Order: sequence, then structure tokens, then C-alpha cells
Amino acid sequence: MIDVSDVTVRFGGVTPLDGMSVRFEQGICGLIGPNGAGKTTFFNVLSGFVRPVAGTITAFGEDLLKMVHFRRARWGVRRTFQTEQAIEELSIYENVAMIHEHSKMKGGSRREDVLGAIEFVKLEGDPYAKVRTLGAGQRRLVEVARAVVGRPRLVLLDEPAAGLPDEETGHLREVIRGIPEHMGAQVILVDHDMSLVSAVCEMTAVLDFGRLLASGPTAEVLRDERVIRAYLGTEEVA
Ligand SMILES: Nc1ncnc2c1ncn2[C@@H]1O[C@H](COP(=O)(O)OP(=O)(O)OP(=O)(O)O)[C@@H](O)[C@H]1O
Ligand SMILES: [Mg+2]
Repeated sequence: MIDVSDVTVRFGGVTPLDGMSVRFEQGICGLIGPNGAGKTTFFNVLSGFVRPVAGTITAFGEDLLKMVHFRRARWGVRRTFQTEQAIEELSIYENVAMIHEHSKMKGGSRREDVLGAIEFVKLEGDPYAKVRTLGAGQRRLVEVARAVVGRPRLVLLDEPAAGLPDEETGHLREVIRGIPEHMGAQVILVDHDMSLVSAVCEMTAVLDFGRLLASGPTAEVLRDERVIRAYLGTEEVA
């Protein structure tokens, strides 16, 4: 469980998070909101790239903000990014092994963990194929494999379905659904695809201008008038 209390981030005159408070229960939680609402900034705070000027975050009883960022990876915070991070000239295996190397929260042997993560995302074919030979959906699965390898505790997925055709989003949906049970990790999913969010997230929180607009069971939140007005009713939803 992740408890966020009054978190504020400032970049010069911009306040991308403005006293954000919310609780993410275990399992898979959604985090939605318009472009620029502060979703990625919040992930940057959790993973340690951005330091808030105020607020606290407790993750499974530990004070996350007191942990330096490289310790957070070892402790079990993992993420995907809005832009692809996998290195094209390396193989799928090497790309996943790189993250395993840094995380030091290993379950079994490196080989077992890396192949286990690749198998978990159901990336078919040769694990030693170079990432540049893969299609968009498969590359996205490499990003997810990097986020679940070893023993993650908290997996942050930043728009994993963006731009994918329906069939590949369907595959990704099943993979994400399996993360709590098979990888033992809590998931926070940011995405603009509301059918994906509805299908996998028990609860969803909505950010607007860096503040929590609503949170609760996903179906209720998506029916909330304020959420419809601030987000779902706009054309920005992809
Ligand atoms: N490094 C930075 N310096 C200055 N402003 C920033 C920086 N990073 C983000 N911002 C600003 O903070 C606000 C929140 O951005 P953020 O990327 O967190 O939004 P988001 O909810 O992830 O949006 P999207 O759905 O488009 O990905 C925006 O106004 C953005 O321009
Ligand atoms: Mg973002």
C-alpha cells in the first residue's frame, strides 16, 4: 500500500504536483488525468528522479522519500517510461538483464529471473533476438519485462498501451493483470485508454492540475461528474 500525503513539486514557476494526497491499495491501481496533470511527475517522485518540496510517501510502511534513488530500485520500485528505453542493438535478454543487474533484488539466478520475466510477458520467439528486429507491441513487452524482472514490489507503468492496436493492447492487458499474482508486486497504471484502465484497475485516482480530483472504485470514478468534466469530456483523451 502506498500512502501519499500532501506532496508538492515545483519547477520554477510551475507546480506540477500541488498538495497531492491519495492512497493506492494493493493490487492494480489506475492513475488518470488530462495531459500535463502531473502523472509522470508523480512517477518521477516515486522513483526518485524528482524531489518534492513538501509531503510524505509511505510505501509498505517505509518512508520512501528518505530512500536515495538507487536504493529504491534495489528495494523494488520499477517503472516503464513514456519513451522507449530498450537499447535497439542489444538482445531482449540483454535489455532485461541490464535492469536485473541494477536491482540487486534477485530471486533465483540471473538467467532464471531474466528468462522468467521474458516468459511472463509472453514474448514469443528467440530471447536473444535484437530489439531492433521487433515490432511495436513486442518492444512494449520488453519494457514491461524490464519492469518486472527480479523481485519488484511496486511497478509503475506510464502509458504502456499508447499507440498500440487493440489486439496488442489485449495481450498487454492480460500481462498487466498477472503482475500482482505472479510477480507479487503492486501496480500503478497510467494510461489514457479508459477501457484498459476499467479492465485491470480495481481502484483509480484522478489528477487534475497536480491535485487529486477523485479516487475510488474505477467504475464509480469514471462516472463522477467532476472527472467527466475535467478529463473524460475533453478531446485530449487518446
Ligand atoms: N522538468 C520539468 N521542468 C519544468 N516543467 C516540467 C518538467 N516536467 C514536467 N513539467 C511540467 O509539469 C506539468 C506536469 O507534467 P507531467 O509530465 O507530469 O504530466 P502528465 O500528467 O504525465 O501528462 P501526459 O498525459 O501528457 O503524459 C506540465 O505542466 C509539464 O509541462
Ligand atoms: Mg506523462
